[in-house]
Amino acid sequence: MQIKVVIGTIAFMLTMMVLGYATLREDARLEEFTHAKVGRSIEFGAELFAGNCTTCHGVNGLAQDCPNEDSCVGLPLNDPGLVCGDKTARMEAMGWIGTKEAFIRTTISSGRPGYIMPAWLDEYGGSLRQDQVKNLADYVLNFESEELCAEPAFEYEWKATYEEYSEEFPDGDVVAGQAAFLTYGCNACHGLPEDDAMVAAVGPELMNIGTNGANRIEGYTAKDYIYQSILEPSAFIAEDCPNAPCSGPPSAMPANFGLRMGSSEEMPQDMQNLITYLTSLN
Ligand code: HEC
Ligand code: HEC
Repeated sequence: MQIKVVIGTIAFMLTMMVLGYATLREDARLEEFTHAKVGRSIEFGAELFAGNCTTCHGVNGLAQDCPNEDSCVGLPLNDPGLVCGDKTARMEAMGWIGTKEAFIRTTISSGRPGYIMPAWLDEYGGSLRQDQVKNLADYVLNFESEELCAEPAFEYEWKATYEEYSEEFPDGDVVAGQAAFLTYGCNACHGLPEDDAMVAAVGPELMNIGTNGANRIEGYTAKDYIYQSILEPSAFIAEDCPNAPCSGPPSAMPANFGLRMGSSEEMPQDMQNLITYLTSLN
C-alpha cells in the first residue's frame, strides 16, 4: 500500500514537471513554427520571383542583372528606398496609411494602372493565387538587412536650387557624367541618348533635354530643371513617355537618387557631371 502511494506521488510530480516544461516551451515552439512557416513562404517566393519578376526587376531584385539584356526597367526592389523603414517615399506620395506589407501585396496583386507593372493576382486577370502573392511579398520584404539599411555615414544636404548647389560643386565633366548615367542605371529607363541601340523604355528620351528642359517650368533653366527632376521626380511630371503619356504623380522614376548621390562627401559631384553630360547632348 505504502509503496503504491510513493509511486503515485512520484508519477504525479513527474507529470507536472513535464506539463510545466511544455507550457514554458510553448511560446518558443510557436515562434519556431512561425519562423519555419515564413522561411518556407520566402523560399516559394524566391522561386516565383525568378520565374516571373526578374525580367523587369533583375536577379535578386537588384535591377542590374536581367535575363534579356535591356529588359530591366531599372526599378530595384532590393533597395533601401523600398525595404528599409516603415514607410517609403512612394507610400507617402500615394497617401497610403496601411502597412508596407499590405502595400507590397497590393502592388503585386493589382499592378500599377498606367505603368508597366502588370497585375498578378488571378482575380485581377493575373496568373497567381493570393497565397503566391503573399509568398512574393515575404520574399521582397526579406531583402531588408542591417547592412542594406544601415544609416549612411554621411548624408549631403541638397541645396534648394541648382544655383546654390553649383556654388559648392562648380564644374562638371561630360565623360564622367555619361559614366554616372550608366552607374545609376538611368539608361534602364531612359536608354542611352547617343546610342541608337539603347532606346528609352520607361522614361522620356533625353537627347534634347538641354533645350527642352528650359521649357518645362517657367523661370527654370534646363540645368535647374534636371537638378529638380533627379532630386524630386514627382515635383513635375513630363508629358511624353515612350509608349504613353507619363503617369503620375507619383513619378515612376525612383525618388532616392538624392540619397544615393549624397552618401559621401565627393559624390554630389555626380549630379554636376550628369547635368553637364545631359546638357551637352542635342
Ligand atoms: C513588365 C515589367 C515588370 C514585371 C514583369 C514586374 N514588374 Fe514590378 N514593377 C514594374 C515597374 C515599371 C514598376 C514601377 C511602377 C511604378 O513606379 O509605378 C514596378 C513596381 C513594383 C513594386 C513596387 C515598388 C515600389 O517601390 O513601390 C513591387 C513591390 C513590384 N513591382 C513587385 C513585382 C513582382 C513581385 C513581380 C513578379 C510577380 C513584378 N513586380 C513583375 C515592372 C514590372
Ligand atoms: C525606373 C525608371 C527611371 C529611372 C531609373 C530614371 N528615370 Fe528619369 N524619368 C523616368 C520617368 C518615368 C520620367 C517621366 C516622369 C517624370 O517627369 O517624373 C522621368 C523623367 C526624367 C527627367 C525629365 C524628363 C523630361 O523630358 O522632362 C529627367 C531629366 C530624368 N528623368 C533624368 C534621370 C536621370 C539623370 C536618372 C538617373 C540618375 C533617371 N532619370 C533615372 C523614369 C526613370
